Amino acid sequence: MPTITTQATHSNASIMADPNWWRQAAVYQIYPRSFADSNGDGIGDLKGVTARIPYLKDLGIDAVWLSPFYPSALADGGYDVDDYRNVDPKLGTLDDFDEMANALKTAGIKLIVDIVPNHSSNRHQWFQEALASPKGSAARNRYIFRDGLGDNGELPPSDWDSVFGGPAWERITEPDGTPGQWYMHIFAREQPDFNWDNPEVRADFLKTLRFWADRGVDGFRIDVAHALTKNLEETLPTKADLEAQGEALYLAGQHPYWDRDDVHGIYAEWRRLFNEYNPPRTAVAEAWVHADRRARYASPEGLGQAFNFDLLQADFDAGQFRTTIVKNLAEAQASGASSTWVFSNHDVVRHATRYGLPASDPSAGGEIMAGQAGKRWLLAGGRQDDVDVELGLRRARAASLLMFALPGSAYLYQGEELGLQEVGSEIPDSARQDPAFFRNKGVDIGRDGCRVPLPWTSGGSSFGFGPGGSHLPQPEWFAGNSVEAQEGQEDSTLSLYRRALALRRQLQTAETLELLETGRDDVLAFRRPNGWTSVTNFGTESFELPSGRLLVSSSPFKGDLLPGATTAWIQA
Ligand code: GLC
Ligand code: CA
Repeated sequence: MPTITTQATHSNASIMADPNWWRQAAVYQIYPRSFADSNGDGIGDLKGVTARIPYLKDLGIDAVWLSPFYPSALADGGYDVDDYRNVDPKLGTLDDFDEMANALKTAGIKLIVDIVPNHSSNRHQWFQEALASPKGSAARNRYIFRDGLGDNGELPPSDWDSVFGGPAWERITEPDGTPGQWYMHIFAREQPDFNWDNPEVRADFLKTLRFWADRGVDGFRIDVAHALTKNLEETLPTKADLEAQGEALYLAGQHPYWDRDDVHGIYAEWRRLFNEYNPPRTAVAEAWVHADRRARYASPEGLGQAFNFDLLQADFDAGQFRTTIVKNLAEAQASGASSTWVFSNHDVVRHATRYGLPASDPSAGGEIMAGQAGKRWLLAGGRQDDVDVELGLRRARAASLLMFALPGSAYLYQGEELGLQEVGSEIPDSARQDPAFFRNKGVDIGRDGCRVPLPWTSGGSSFGFGPGGSHLPQPEWFAGNSVEAQEGQEDSTLSLYRRALALRRQLQTAETLELLETGRDDVLAFRRPNGWTSVTNFGTESFELPSGRLLVSSSPFKGDLLPGATTAWIQA
């Protein structure tokens, strides 16, 4: 079997001093509104994060990625930013931020913050200025305003859809009260797209990056990194025109607004800024692009790392995992980055639920992205009746343990260490918040089901999330998943994550792996350079393990027969 090698080596022991700390980090995503609430208003906050740093340290993660915490009306869960250089008063203050950042540093945990450069919120001062200013003004030119089609400009400039459903253009009322121009929004109407041709926009983001880097932030996660630049010539192509050109258009980097070649000029400039710091600030691109084009985002002259969502989109299947792993390690090597792995985040159905869905359900895997780069399928979530909860969790634990053995960065999402399932129908329509739900009604119930506040205790007010309620309703079954319920339980998912992450720290070495021949299509095994072997049985029939010392397994078993849907780590 081939030996797969990627570039640098990294030891977690020296993570704070090491400029390569990010290459094999375990990064824990915090969705701050749903993590921990310090003051009982039902909304998680920065003081809540600070209070839980001992928990994060015990968990054994290397870095926190903090989803947006900036002032926002929460039209899109904080990805609608009113002010890029401040903290949402609902979440705290800049002082709270500094306190949190310092406490993380003391605990030896790096901090990555989310940057949302494609669009601001419609409450951003610049957008308000644009609305109050005349057509053709400098203020309008920071966004994408166009005249409508039709005799009176009553039709949108093109028939493009927004990602969340509905049109990608919204008509405004001019300052004199007449119906006026249209502005572009790839996402919700509260998220007007910036005009990245405008040097003022570019300069402002450099200022924002510097603002947070100077405050001690170690890295950045770049939201929809593949959307910033646009080519909006006089006549816009129709949806049908774009579809007719198919994949070729994406592969040529010439789509009017997704994954254009010219976006990399922006990241080259950002990289120069990141490299002024010691250690250089890191960045990871959220880019739902064609696999062949991902390496550009991850290059050392660009952002340095890019998410790959391939494992997230794979079925629980040894063949699909094997192909994905080989391909992504090769890709990372070619770009000079380390690979990234992720199963869950705030945009997709939790993997413990996906793996318990009947294979026929599209959310079970495979089709998160509807064929085209950048056009994401926001999964119809749900802890539906047909979810096999036990099987889903068992497979999720096996998959996560496999991921922790892979070279590269592992990104985890808050609550997966508790084995949380997606919350489905327990969230009544009246309590839903996701714009995908409102813009898409009846088709897509949106992403609220993975954003329900965490259960820290088995009872009490909001299961210990805070002294008050919870901004999204928590179901009764959260009690069994709470940190309190799992603490000290050897077989709990929390104990598994802690054990695995601690071992990973000791064992993580050169970014290489060697695939092992197992003689079975449904068993995937690989060895890292120091004799650390990970074996996953994706099937149902047990598999005889190679000899060696058992370090950890995703489900308990006796003897040397690895049961189905289980991963074991063996030390030769
Ligand atoms: C990214 C975020 C998602 C958000 C969208 C628009 O995909 O992960 O939550 O809705 O960008 O900002
Ligand atoms: Ca709060």
